[in-house]
Amino acid sequence: MTSPCWKAHADLVVVGTGVAGLTAALRARELGLRVLVVTKEAAEGGNTRWAQGGVAVVLGDDSADSVDRHVADTLAAGGGLCDADTAARIIGDGPAAVARLRSRGAVFDMGDAGRLARTREGGHTAFRVVHAGGDATGAEVERALLAASRDGRVPMLEHHVAVDTLRTPAGEVAGLLVLDASGVPGVLTAPAVLLATGGLGQLYQATTNPSVATADGVAIALRSGAPVADLEFVQFHPTVLYTGEGARGRCPLVTEAVRGEGAVLVDSRGLRVMAGVHPLGDLAPRDVVSAAITRRLAELGEDHVFLDATHLDRPTFRRRFPTVLAACLAAGVDPSAAPIPVSPAAHFSCGGVVSTVDGRTPVRGLYAAGEVARTGLHGANRLASNSLLEGLVVGTRAAEAVAADLALGVLAEPRLAACQPVPTVPVADRDTLQRVMSRYAAIGRDGEGLAVVGSVLDVSAVDRPLETRALVEDAALTLTARALIAAAAARTESRGCHVRDDFPAVDPDWAHGLTIRLTPSGQPMLDRPALLARGAA
Ligand code: SIN
Repeated sequence: MTSPCWKAHADLVVVGTGVAGLTAALRARELGLRVLVVTKEAAEGGNTRWAQGGVAVVLGDDSADSVDRHVADTLAAGGGLCDADTAARIIGDGPAAVARLRSRGAVFDMGDAGRLARTREGGHTAFRVVHAGGDATGAEVERALLAASRDGRVPMLEHHVAVDTLRTPAGEVAGLLVLDASGVPGVLTAPAVLLATGGLGQLYQATTNPSVATADGVAIALRSGAPVADLEFVQFHPTVLYTGEGARGRCPLVTEAVRGEGAVLVDSRGLRVMAGVHPLGDLAPRDVVSAAITRRLAELGEDHVFLDATHLDRPTFRRRFPTVLAACLAAGVDPSAAPIPVSPAAHFSCGGVVSTVDGRTPVRGLYAAGEVARTGLHGANRLASNSLLEGLVVGTRAAEAVAADLALGVLAEPRLAACQPVPTVPVADRDTLQRVMSRYAAIGRDGEGLAVVGSVLDVSAVDRPLETRALVEDAALTLTARALIAAAAARTESRGCHVRDDFPAVDPDWAHGLTIRLTPSGQPMLDRPALLARGAA
């Protein structure tokens, strides 16, 4: 058992340097809070920089679009599981969030008449996705927020992995246990901890997410007593550059905006993949397009289709999609001369830690924002480019919520935090986990396959003390996979990103989210009310 050997204190500890974490840290600093940002990588190592498409927002300078229409598109994409009030609040805050980001130095691409340029992506019925650097929006957002954080002297603890929250005897969060790069434990006492740890793409062999996306925040929240919901809805991006059989780790994205600019999906015979599938054709919501590609690949016994963007010449590609062009050329494909080989890969977690639009979770002192949070904006399938928007809005609101909760005196006194050793929890082998998750828990699941994943995890997991970053990450993947499998097995229908081969239809009885908590012995368990809603008393 290793005991913590150093200590620091803040009003708010933010875990993660993506858009939500940095936005929250900057706002907290403006509000006069002592904030400390913790990241397991260098500050630039978050997921945000890989976002290509842009920020979906209605700026009010286009009479053909409206916030209500953006909300309607979000709800339509979300397969009946979005929270309409949450969607209206987050989308309604969008213009102010983008204005704040620009005032912090982010530079967006300009269009005609002094207006920001806009593109379209899947599920959007209007051109409302603002972008930067052509297809490098995430990189520009991250650059601007990091520069503002450095200017504003936001303290950052790099190369420290968050292990667990510190909790008072009453179960309130009062700080964070971390490990430095050598595995030396330390304690950060704080009445508020904000999880902004990003996604869980590393549950799968091929993903658009970087190696940091190991579901750390989901595991920390569950072990802190917080519920998670909608974990079964993992969004697979339809157009990830196919670089050959057996692609592993982070694979290059081909932004949906390429389809927004007219590209179409075709199979190896040159037949359109989306013909007759959805009224929006190639710009149908992402779950619909990924499922259609998966069906076509199964029919043909192949492993990739093609994105035909040859109507765009090389200069247009260079100006509008420089990131995509570079990735294609590196893979030996000239996208202005030949269709791009693509296949779906794990991209975004629509579910996560149950939290409000202000980032509050049901556990006092624990907040969540960004991809790790489940606010109800995404439902069963996220609308493209709503995630940077959510990070900007909820990051700001979470910092304001912490300031308000501190002023009201409702948060725990950090001195009451019990000093705890690093936990000992089940850890499965990562390769094995990724293999079975990709085989049995991707697009097209069934009860038998999900049970196989559960058994493999049970057999392969061994209790280990979380003494290194790798163990912390593998434990998070193990726990999150178990929770995801439990939800996916229980949801006996197909909805949004959750496609069950044995239950191919939407079941109206399942028009509600599934919440999971940990039992006292550390097993993920569906919340009782969800079971009762199915009449399984
Ligand atoms: C894309 O550019 O296609 C991805 C953007 C997103 O995931 O919202």
